[in-house]
Amino acid sequence: MGTPKRTLVTSALPYANGPLHIGHLAGAYLNADIYVRWLRGIGEEVLFVCGSDEHGAAITVRALKEGMSPKQIVDKYHHLFQSTFAAIGISFDVYDRTSSELHHQTSQDFFRKLYQDGAFIERESEQYFDEEAQSFLADRYIMGTCPRCSNPDAYGDQCERCGSTLSPTELIEPRSTLSGSKPVMRSTRHWYLPLENHETWLREWITDGTIDGVVHHYPADWKNHVLGQCKSWLDAGLQPRAMTRDLDWGVDVPQEIPGSAGKKLYVWMDAPIGYISATRKWANEHGKDWESWWKNPETSIIHFIGKDNIVFHCLIFPAILKAHGGYNLPINVPANQFMNLEGNKISTSRNWAVWVDEFVRDFPGMEDSLRYNMIRNMPEQRDSEFTWKNFQETHNSELVNNLANFVNRVLVLTRKYYNGAVPPADFKDTFLDQDSNQTTIQSWMNDLAGRIRQVDISIRQFSFREAMQQVMEISSVGNQILQINEPWKAIKNDPDSVRPVMFISLQIVVAISRLIRPFLPFTADRLDKFLALDSGKEQDRIKQLLDAIEHKGPLLKSGHQTGDSGHLFDRIPDEVIDEQITRLHGRDATSITSESTEPPFSPQKETIQYDQFTGLDIRSGVIVHGEKVPKADRLLKLEVDLGFERRTIVSGIAEHFSPSEIIGQQVVVLSNLAPRTLKGIESQGMILMASLPDGTLEFILPGSPIPPGCVIS
Ligand code: MF3
Ligand code: ZN
Repeated sequence: MGTPKRTLVTSALPYANGPLHIGHLAGAYLNADIYVRWLRGIGEEVLFVCGSDEHGAAITVRALKEGMSPKQIVDKYHHLFQSTFAAIGISFDVYDRTSSELHHQTSQDFFRKLYQDGAFIERESEQYFDEEAQSFLADRYIMGTCPRCSNPDAYGDQCERCGSTLSPTELIEPRSTLSGSKPVMRSTRHWYLPLENHETWLREWITDGTIDGVVHHYPADWKNHVLGQCKSWLDAGLQPRAMTRDLDWGVDVPQEIPGSAGKKLYVWMDAPIGYISATRKWANEHGKDWESWWKNPETSIIHFIGKDNIVFHCLIFPAILKAHGGYNLPINVPANQFMNLEGNKISTSRNWAVWVDEFVRDFPGMEDSLRYNMIRNMPEQRDSEFTWKNFQETHNSELVNNLANFVNRVLVLTRKYYNGAVPPADFKDTFLDQDSNQTTIQSWMNDLAGRIRQVDISIRQFSFREAMQQVMEISSVGNQILQINEPWKAIKNDPDSVRPVMFISLQIVVAISRLIRPFLPFTADRLDKFLALDSGKEQDRIKQLLDAIEHKGPLLKSGHQTGDSGHLFDRIPDEVIDEQITRLHGRDATSITSESTEPPFSPQKETIQYDQFTGLDIRSGVIVHGEKVPKADRLLKLEVDLGFERRTIVSGIAEHFSPSEIIGQQVVVLSNLAPRTLKGIESQGMILMASLPDGTLEFILPGSPIPPGCVIS
């Protein structure tokens, strides 16, 4: 499959400030792991690097919160990451950390070179300073009232309630989270990368895929949403970006540089260089040359990241590399979108997450079931969603009913008919294929080679969902072949016809064991054991399969004795899933189920005609302001953003919600309801609510966040 290539694969360095959740996994690790394992299997040279991102406000804020030092925090999470990644089968060649000595050196060398080459501009600016704590304040250390939605607890860089990106000076009544005092403006000098000077070549590189007119990559191979984000940054015009900060924790600006005292590298300057440091660490430990992975144009670099990292990997880091000179730029940045959880955004602070370390503890031996569900729902092109019910469903109906069922049938029948040995058969022997056509083993194997090439294509297009499905399809087809040939009947009167059927079925099991390894490595190990095949190294295992097909010698030869088989997967019962859902919601399941004897559903209304329905204009919106209506216990006066305009809506939900808790709430609005005046206020629409059996009201939530103004029909 093409000429052997060399690929350096990176996964975003996770901030060592909290455990890994399924969103991390589906965003930047599982996809990279599949890609890397596949390339190894095909026989290509690949290096997979990652490590913990241990600097930046993400770390120090967490340290403050947990009452620990930044060093204690990064140690704690770095070790947790190492064990969690290993437990879920992410096969990094090296997992480094940015607090390492080598990384400090590497990133300082980078900074020094850029400084000496005049790649930076120096600028003086006014920044918030906490006089009590005697410290400049990172954006995250300043809180205040959001100018957009009045959330009193917005951060200097973002309001978590309405999602706006903010700058600290926009906050109303800013306060320092270090001391609580009111910060003052103080001037400070920093080094900036003048991104606007890089705009021309960046645009050419992103939109045409060329560097100085020479083809570097094909933009059509990049994901649309990645290109779209880059273009909108470029169109907005790039600005100088500070590459240093006034902080205590981070990589020191090299001390020989005048004015370096108290200055640290900006985390987004140092972290991506962590990919290089990790490569150097690996090379040192293996007696290899690190530079050939970064500077040799024959090596392709691919960054796997989540969508919030796009600008850093597609514009800022490339500009840093180009300013330094001598480094390759990434050939692709296949960013994933986000995975939501049970109808809400995953949130570490609200503990709305499935933690990977908890999962491996709660579901021992079921690591691949999580991997499988993550792959099936990978947010490759748009946001996706994890639900526990869907997890149970994909496990039970696909892994158990399809895959485990096929493997089990083949091995049990082989034991029964041939004492577990692969029966004799010839590549010219025939059987009925999945379409009931008489087919030779040879021709079926050729088709299989075609399927494997399809999987290869999908993987190289970063379509991992599709690739997984193509592999599972081989198992479905295997099940169909058994069903159509009915060896359990034929064994009685035409046992000769059963041999090719069992022979091909066994070959399919071997093929699956090889092809599934990149996706479900633990399952692949188990299959190898069932087949009594040496699990061996991952390198070349898919290539061997293709070679066997092409050179017409089966991987599993007649006479080979298969091993003991057990269950590949057991069904997941409802109780196990219910327990997880209950835990997620953090409340007792019994309190949710209504104890009333009343029928839980109100009677259906009369049938309406389609036209009556299309007359309703229903839209998505966001509550941006709320206050109680004086002298009305039930009413709230709300300001709702419908995208195209803002509406005042009076809603009878005051007994259920306080104004402050619903700011930023996504809502569904009947927007063309004739205005009504309630307590002297004109209400311009109606918010649709769900009435629960226990009499409470709930907002109606979309499966994933949607912008205001969308038509709902
Ligand atoms: N720590 C960052 C995050 O979690 C990602 C850093 S990626 C790197 O969003 F390139 F900077 F390493
Ligand atoms: Zn806000």
